[in-house]
Order: sequence, then structure tokens, then C-alpha cells
Amino acid sequence: MKFGYFDDRNREYVITQPDTPLPWINYLGCQEYYGIISNTAGGYSFYRDARLRRLTRYRYNNAPMDLGGRYIYLRDDESHQFWSPSWQPTRHDIENYSCRHGMGYTVIGSTYSGIEAHTRYFVPLDENLEIWQVTVTNRRATRARISTFASIEFCLWDAQDDATNFQRNFNVGEVEVEEGVIYHKTEYRERRNHFAYFACSVPNAGFDTQREAFLGRYRGWDSPAAVEAGQLTNSIAHGWSPIGAHQVKLDLAPGETRQIVLLLGYHENPANQKFDPAGSQTINKKTVRPVIAKYLDTKEADAAFERLGQHWDKLLGILQVSTPDVHTNRMVNIWNAYQCMVTFNLSRSASFFESGIGRGLGFRDSNQDLLGFVHMAPTRARRRILDLAATQLATGGAYHQYQPLTKRGNNDIGSGFNDDPLWLIVGVSAYLKETGDRCILDEKVPFDNEPGSEKTLYEHLRRSFAYTLERLGPHGLPLIGRADWNDCLNLNCFSSTPGQSFQTTTNKDGKVAESVLIAGLFVYVGRELAEIAKSRGLNAEASTYLCKVAKMEQIVLEHGWDGEWFLRAYDDFGAKIGSKECTEGKIFIESNGFCALAGIGLDDGKAVLALAATREHLATRHGIVLQQPPYSKYYLNLGEISSYPPGYKENAGIFCHANPWVMIGEARLGHGDQAHDYYLRINPSAREEISELHRCEPYVYAQMIAGKDAPTFGEAKNSWLTGTAAWNYYAVVQWILGIRTTLNGLEIAPVIPKNWPGYKATRIFRGVAYHISIERKGDGNQIALIVDDSPIAGNIVSPPSDGRKEVTIKGILR
Ligand code: GLC
Ligand code: GLC
Repeated sequence: MKFGYFDDRNREYVITQPDTPLPWINYLGCQEYYGIISNTAGGYSFYRDARLRRLTRYRYNNAPMDLGGRYIYLRDDESHQFWSPSWQPTRHDIENYSCRHGMGYTVIGSTYSGIEAHTRYFVPLDENLEIWQVTVTNRRATRARISTFASIEFCLWDAQDDATNFQRNFNVGEVEVEEGVIYHKTEYRERRNHFAYFACSVPNAGFDTQREAFLGRYRGWDSPAAVEAGQLTNSIAHGWSPIGAHQVKLDLAPGETRQIVLLLGYHENPANQKFDPAGSQTINKKTVRPVIAKYLDTKEADAAFERLGQHWDKLLGILQVSTPDVHTNRMVNIWNAYQCMVTFNLSRSASFFESGIGRGLGFRDSNQDLLGFVHMAPTRARRRILDLAATQLATGGAYHQYQPLTKRGNNDIGSGFNDDPLWLIVGVSAYLKETGDRCILDEKVPFDNEPGSEKTLYEHLRRSFAYTLERLGPHGLPLIGRADWNDCLNLNCFSSTPGQSFQTTTNKDGKVAESVLIAGLFVYVGRELAEIAKSRGLNAEASTYLCKVAKMEQIVLEHGWDGEWFLRAYDDFGAKIGSKECTEGKIFIESNGFCALAGIGLDDGKAVLALAATREHLATRHGIVLQQPPYSKYYLNLGEISSYPPGYKENAGIFCHANPWVMIGEARLGHGDQAHDYYLRINPSAREEISELHRCEPYVYAQMIAGKDAPTFGEAKNSWLTGTAAWNYYAVVQWILGIRTTLNGLEIAPVIPKNWPGYKATRIFRGVAYHISIERKGDGNQIALIVDDSPIAGNIVSPPSDGRKEVTIKGILR
């Protein structure tokens, strides 16, 4: 069953039924001001940091779910009936409901009792505000007198404190209302230089700023007393819960349409110009008035919306593909690329599944995110890399995360994840391959942000690599530390205290437990680092890296091989994990996927065996589960992985992030059909038809789909902010379609399904537009390339030496 449909021409998903299985959300903003918005106008907004600068409130995990939003109410001033065109919060039987989620905007509307209304929400580029354009049309044969109410609830900035510290917060709320604009200025009297505002383009018939005045006692957002009465009360909040509500009265002739523009914004004043007049406690509004005046003008709002569309044309235009498969096209051209940008912007902070309060930017996560967005935002990728590297420790180790506002590393959710440092090499390598910007390697970057400790970025990479080599275990495999990519495989934790964090508790000295995944990652990044060294003319150093890689590969084949597949790890007792000798957790996706991806066992048939075993034991129709059999009980020596009930999350869930490793492995083996088949199993668009089972948005990846051992097999969770976005994009584009960036140029190496006659693509790479067409003439993966009518040797197309900006590449597959 579907709850809507894809409108690919307009790059939109159109939801046609408001009660989707879960709130299906979208993101507003792509620079500093952000919001999440659900299909029924739920969600909240913030400036840069979802915890510390929250503009509006949201009620998590509530019943009914998804409350707190950008709510519009319409009231028929003759019949006194009122409703919300976005369905929530009043939940009337509206007609023609639709929610169009597009690139950085959402339009929600419906018709009720002959009154059509829709609202377009978006954040203009380069501004710290969101625009709501509410359009109301009278579809009746008679005149209609309609009151329109727009409402938000302010958050007292720090979302954590706001949700807990009532003894203070019920007293500090302050607002000003001037010329019809509502200003939220809690704590502006003291150390904040920022305030929020809520403005309306049409002269007010009333406003409210105190929540209780608007809602009435013991009433909710579904039936605000002031809306019911048809008149806002012009309340001024003193403490308690400041809100913003505007009322506009419309008198519409049959067929008449009116538009109202609302602005919700964030503004900062210079510290010495906070008040006007100086010495008063009144906000200085001189700096914000021009911005408000500008965007309350419908024409300016429309122009800003146009610019937003052009911004996305440009970003998405960098890679467009046309393949025989609609799901591949739609995800690569639109939604997966979009999700990669959102994931980069928000990391893992704010979604329906992430509270915006919890985490900073993950070191590992952020480096992997680069794989998916570097071509769209290379300058920002460069900045991100340098910020990440500056949090690295002099030992080569890494904080597990850092705070975007301070750019400082913190250990709040643990440290000593021994895979972390290696991901820096993955990120930098992706950046170099995309941009060719070798200068970044010579940038001086501190360790742990310590002034005076600066070394080149290249030196940081060396230390990342050395970090693994300095931490090898009894078999010569890398020590796992707190955990590796799998945060929940906690082999040194041994926690028996309820509620204790698996991420910060360590009871073993960490000298025994080893990870085959880190070994695979080491082999993969070692080759990348050797390439980078060569590109700097450091051939001897490159050879050393390759020697270390060869040695690690040997160790994996010897001590990391279980006979039919790769082991996952050794625990603190030196016992195998992910072996046929185990009773549970006999085989894992990560080590098999990653070792194959890294090319381990390609020559001696082990990779083939490992992926065949993966297919046999782990693949399901909804994707590849993380391990089998699941852990049926809690194991002290394994940690959080065994804390999840079977089939969920890391305990045998379909962890979508790791699926593309297997796809890439299959592609490396030349198995295009299998790789693409796996790709489609978790592709959200391909799962649209089973939305009632999948439950999450059909336009973006979810982190996890419940595995075959779960009662809810096939149900997705944790959509949007996940490494799944970048890895699936990277797998399908670079390994299945085979449009692959290298240090020396664009490599074309498709491993596509046998029944595809070919595909076409345009890829803008280092300033040159490559028009690619692949034609299948046999059913293998041998490719011959003709570049601008001349056949070339090999499959790497070097940048044109004569400055041409357009290149055609024709590839014949045999
Ligand atoms: C989450 C984390 C990521 C981790 C993965 C597996 O996606 O953000 O860092 O690798 O879970 O545990
Ligand atoms: C990862 C895992 C999650 C775990 C978390 C701890 O995100 O997916 O299950 O709780 O790491 O930080």
C-alpha cells in the first residue's frame, strides 16, 4: 500500500493521505537555519545547533505523535467551524489533502467546506528565517468570511534545559510585540544577543503570545480556545510558555484567492547595540526590520523560492543518470543525493529518531558522509575535513565526536573506537579523488585543537594509519578498543549494571579482543594511502604501506578466515566471534562485506565464498541482516549488540549502512545482477509499494529495517540521518554504474545487470561535463572506451589537456 507517489519531474514526493504510518518528514534550510517539517506540519526549527539554539518546541514520543509545529487554522466566521488544512492538529476529514516534500521545501494543503488552502514552507538561501506562504481560495459559490490563524510555540533556546528546568523556565519567558511582529526575547536581557520573531504580511486582527491564552486551560493544539472563539486575545507572555499566533480576517468572493506571508526568523544583534533606545530593555529592531519587510513581500518570497530551486538544479546537475530502472534513477538523481546533503548538514542530530539534543558530529560518521556529498559541496567538504582532523589526537587516535559550535572533540559518548582514525583516510581520499586539490595535504592542522601542535594534514593521515599498527592483538589483527564500526560490539565492556553506558564503560584492558572489520578497513585505506603517497612522489613510503597491507591481508586470510567466511572478531578470551563454532552470531555482514570490498581473498576464491555465505545466511528479501543467528540473550562479553531483541538494530537487524559493502564486494567480483538486486532490496523507492510494512518515508533510506528474526520483519526505523545515504549512493554510482573518481581522472567501470542495454549519464567532474553513454554488446563487464570519438587505452579518462569543458565518453560493454 502506498500513501502517495513520486513526482520526479518536480523532484517531489506527494503524500496523499495524512495519517502516514509515521510522520514523513523533510528538511528546511541548508546553511545555518534549519527546520524539520512533517507531512502534517509538525516539527521544529533551530539555528545551527538543534540543542542550543532551538527556536520552537516539539513534543517527542508523544500521543498523538508529532505534536508541535507550524500550524495554520482556518475558521469560518459564519458557521464558526474551524480546522487545519494540514490535518494536524485538528484532524478533520479534509478533502484533497496533499503534502509535497521537495528539495528544501514542503507544501501542505487541502480543501474543507469549500475553502482550499495550502502553505509553502521554505528557508531562503543566505537568510536565517523561514517563509510560510499561505494561500487561501474560496471554492464556494458564495462569499466566505474566514479567519486564518498561524501559530508556533517558542522554545527557550536550550532544548534540553527547556524540557527539564521548569522552576526557572516558567519565569524567564519574555516577548515584545511591535507593529504586528512578535519578538521572542527570553534571556535577551542577559547574555543572549539573539532573538526570534514571527511576522505576518497582512495587518493583524489579533495576536497571542501566551500559550494558555491561546489554547485555554486544559486544552491542546487540536482545539485552541481563541480559535474556537474566533478572536485572539492580544496576550503578552510574562513567563510560562511564550508562543506566537497571528489572526488575519479574509472576506473572499467566490473564486477569490489571497496569500498571507508569515516569517519565522532568528536574528543576532551586535553586543553593543542590543537595545533601542540604548539603556532600555527594548530590542533594537533596526537591524532586523529590513529583512522582515523584504520577505513579507510575496514577490520577494517567490524570488527566493526560485533561487532555492536553482541552487538544487545546480547541485543535482553534477550527476544525472538515465538507466532502465526507475528506482535507480530517482534515488541517484534526486532523493539519495538530497539525503546525502541533509545528512552532511545535520549529521546525526535532528530527525524524528534523533532528538537534536544528543550527539555532536561523529568522527567516523562525518568522514563517511563525505563519500556521498563531496561532489556537491567540495568547499564545505574541505572545511569539514580540516575541522575533523583538528580534533585528532597526537597519538593518531580520535575523539568519537565533536561539537559543531565549538569544533572541540568530546568523549561524551565514548572514546577509543579503534576504527575511527582510519575513516579520516577514507574521507580525505574521497575528497582528493573528487577535487584533485592536493594542497589540502599540506594544510597545517593542530592535534586536539592545541595551538603549536600543527602538522600537515598528510602527517595526520600517517598517524591514523600508524595508530592501527601500534595496536595489534595476539593474532596480529587490529585491537578493537571500545568497538569498531559496529558501536555495539563492545568486547572490553563487561557491564552488569543496569543503565550503564555501553559506550563509556570499559572493564578490560583491551589487549586481546581483535577486529577483522578493522583489518579489512586497514587494507582498504592502506591502498588509498599508498596512492596518495605516490601522488606526493613518496614512492618508498607508498611501498611500505603496501607491505603493511599485504601483511595484514595475509593475517586476515590466516587468522580471520573461518573456512567458508571471514570471522568477525576475537573476544577478550581470544574466542572467535562470527564463526561456525559459535552457537549464535556465527556469521556477520561487516567483515565479509568489508573484506570483499577491500579485495581480500579476491585471488584465492575466499571473497567468492564469503559472499556466497553472506547470500545464503544473511540475505533476505528486505535486505541483508547484520548477523545470524541473532543473540537470544545478553552476553556480558559482547555488550550492547546482545542488548537488542533479536532482529533489531545491530542484533541481526538489516543495518542498511553495511549492505552496500556487500554490493561493492559483488561488483568487484563482477556480479552486476547480484549487486543491483541487493541495491533494490533496501532502495526506499523500490519499497514504496509496501509502505504499510516499511512505515518510514519511501524517499529516503532508513538506518535499519527489522531483520527476519523480528516479529516486524521488513519494518524500517531511523530514517534520514544515517551513513546508509552516503554508502548506497557511493555503491550504486561508483561501483555498479562504475562512474568512479580516481586521483588521475574519471574511471568508467560499470558492473550493471545483464539485462540492461546500457545507461546514460552526465557527470560534472573537476569543472568538465562528461556525457557518458554505455552500450551493452555482450553480457560481461569488459569495457572499451571511446572518448570524443577516439578509443583510449584502459578505462580512466584523464582531464582534457586542452581546456575543453565538455567531453563525450562512449563505453562498449562486452
Ligand atoms: C550508527 C552510528 C555509526 C555506527 C553504526 C553501527 O549508524 O552512527 O557510527 O557505525 O551505527 O553501529
Ligand atoms: C549506534 C547504534 C546504536 C547505539 C549507538 C550508541 O548508533 O546504532 O544502536 O545505541 O551507536 O552510540
